[in-house]
Amino acid sequence: MTDTSKLRAWTEIDYQAIAHNVAEVRKLVGNTKILGILKADAYGHGALECAAALADAGVDFFAVACLAEGQQLRAAGFHQPILLLGATPPAAFDELIEGDFIQTLVSLEYARKLSDYALAHGTKAKAHVKVDTGMNRVGIQYQDGARRYDQIKAAYGLPGLDVQGIFSHFPVSDDLGFDSREFTRHQIRLFKEVLDRLKNDGIDPGVRHIQNSYGILNYKDLGMDYCRPGLLYMGVTSDDQVPIASAPDFIPILSLKTKVSMVKTVPAGATVSYGRHYKCDQPRRIASLSIGYADGLPRLASNQNLMISIRGHKVPLVGNICMDQCMADVTGFDEIEEGDIATIIGVDGPNVMTVDAISRAAKTINNETLSALSKRLTRIAKDE
Ligand SMILES: Cc1ncc(COP(=O)(O)O)c(C=O)c1O
Repeated sequence: MTDTSKLRAWTEIDYQAIAHNVAEVRKLVGNTKILGILKADAYGHGALECAAALADAGVDFFAVACLAEGQQLRAAGFHQPILLLGATPPAAFDELIEGDFIQTLVSLEYARKLSDYALAHGTKAKAHVKVDTGMNRVGIQYQDGARRYDQIKAAYGLPGLDVQGIFSHFPVSDDLGFDSREFTRHQIRLFKEVLDRLKNDGIDPGVRHIQNSYGILNYKDLGMDYCRPGLLYMGVTSDDQVPIASAPDFIPILSLKTKVSMVKTVPAGATVSYGRHYKCDQPRRIASLSIGYADGLPRLASNQNLMISIRGHKVPLVGNICMDQCMADVTGFDEIEEGDIATIIGVDGPNVMTVDAISRAAKTINNETLSALSKRLTRIAKDE
């Protein structure tokens, strides 16, 4: 067991469970390979450790948001292909090529700039074309009212580019409602239409990918070359209350824990924390915990009856979450004392505390809660 005696707040990550989660993804997507999403430090799980676990599980392709994240992987010795999902500023094209990254082409104009730069430096830049079938974030539009196939084709013809793949992205693959399913199915049709048109024009599109985690859960095997899960290999979805079309058996890999720094009895009528939102109706035993919103426990989750677990007892957080501390009402559990470990996310005796509960209390999704976990938390790998 890792010694946590000197720690105030930490995450415990079960990297070994990634192999299990990858296997669950594979059951859904058939022969489609996995492109592991590692952006935002793998949503707070540790990009390097996740990359190593994914590689061990046979994942041979990674994606990150930006150059700095890619460079972190390269510096750690990861030689796999790495796709940069966001636009790299033209002023950093030298580093893009230096790091042997694959750049997402966010527009034809951008593709031309990258091609010109590479040509001028006697090289070719690796790239994937992003096709915007309805997200309207980045990519060359190919949607009703804006089928810009000529631009997609032109990107493949740029002399300074080595276009190795093509992809699109779903905005509502998480929603099983009729309209959202129609929208997503239409996106798939549009993407396949682009692929057919490229084929008819004698252009090899390279590797094709479109599914994020919900695309995998709800649309399963689309016959693409790769799928792009982030959340799923971490063992969670965006929101456990949202119904999904499959029933995989994922293991959440992250636990979040802290310590009880003191326990006191607060008299009847007194209040707890900033804003005085929690008033003790009778004398209450209040435990102070060494974790706050600067650690990533969202302040919006304050005063929402969010439960945590200490010594196998579920107790509510009370009062406003502060920057570095928060309080739980432990009345009735006399054995809870200073130095106890409090489980915010994870398993504690019979209790399973989920990130979903925190996200719900904070009116957000797990993607945000996890990626906002701060660097101040010590990260430890769970022992066997
Ligand atoms: C383009 C792209 N693909 C895949 C993903 C992975 O999403 P998820 O974690 O839901 O699988 C993201 C993350 O937001 C993304 O932006």
